Amino acid sequence: GVRRITGLKPTGHLHLGNLLGAIRPIVTGQYRAETIVFLADLHALTVTHQPNEVRANTLEQATTLLAAGLDPDRVTLYVQSQVPQHTELHYLLECTTGYGEAQRMIQFREKSVTQPNVRLSLLSYPVLMAADILLHDVHEVPVGADQSQHLELTRAVANRFNTRYGDTFVVPRAVLPTVSARVMDLADPTRKMGKTAETDAGIIFLLDPPEVIRRKVTRAVTDPGRTVEYDPQSRPGLANLLDILAAAVGDPPTALTAGYRSYAQLKTAVVEAVDGLLRPIRLRHAELARDPGYVRQVLVEGAERARDSAADTVYRAKRAIGLLT
Ligand code: TYM
Repeated sequence: GVRRITGLKPTGHLHLGNLLGAIRPIVTGQYRAETIVFLADLHALTVTHQPNEVRANTLEQATTLLAAGLDPDRVTLYVQSQVPQHTELHYLLECTTGYGEAQRMIQFREKSVTQPNVRLSLLSYPVLMAADILLHDVHEVPVGADQSQHLELTRAVANRFNTRYGDTFVVPRAVLPTVSARVMDLADPTRKMGKTAETDAGIIFLLDPPEVIRRKVTRAVTDPGRTVEYDPQSRPGLANLLDILAAAVGDPPTALTAGYRSYAQLKTAVVEAVDGLLRPIRLRHAELARDPGYVRQVLVEGAERARDSAADTVYRAKRAIGLLT
């Protein structure tokens, strides 16, 4: 059968980009594919962080994933730092990756100019990500478009290792959603919706109450013009709203334009569609948050399962690369 993995970095609250880019695809596929999901807390340490916030975000994101429909009887859900094989394999892969190769990663280049003290781990972050993925012999990695380059690096590292040291890793591929692989910030539609934006005005968080969703969508930046057309190049704000609506209702964005005569009409539809997506998550989250012991238990069991499956891969990699096992 097909095996899949995805990870989420607990640096803030989960948002609509995370849902449409990664969470929903993984939940939709969970009964077809053997699925692994983890909270990438080690990745959260690559930039300035507050220790208590990372911990709280980790539990909140796990709770939100369950609220979004992840079935813990079906999916292995765990916290990265509770499975030591991630860092074990990370080191072996650092010894298979070029310094220049890591430096070429776009996210590193972007973040290393805005961060005051660039951590060494920010440079090697994509290598840890490669280890996350290769650890579990997966075929598919559902992610948003911003992770494509990291997936290419993962494939390059795996292929090189296999060629140099003998067949060790399954070479996985990225799986991107057809619409909404890159949900843009509502207040600045030229940048992706993300936790690192300066304000929250353009980010719809999964736990935002209905009135906040309404306000953010209503204030979304649109483009000059009156007609509702789908043109991501010259009208990115409008196209973003159409993409979000398309993802919510399951029609292609170009098929939706005819239904709306004004931006206001379109925004009303977007508010309803987004609230329809988020309401069940919000309600279920409120229930689950009353029982953090349950969520922690899911994570404990997930980590146990993940350690078992990962140990075998690390053993293979150690043998292949020349360590005494
Ligand atoms: P992170 O935490 O930034 O994002 C989690 C997932 O959400 C997707 N995503 C988006 N999709 C569409 N539109 C957006 N605006 C948007 N913003 C985020 C991301 O593409 C991602 O799929 N490096 C990863 C975490 C990670 C990982 C892994 C993922 C660590 N190891 C192994 C897959 C496999 C990250 O920072 O994701």
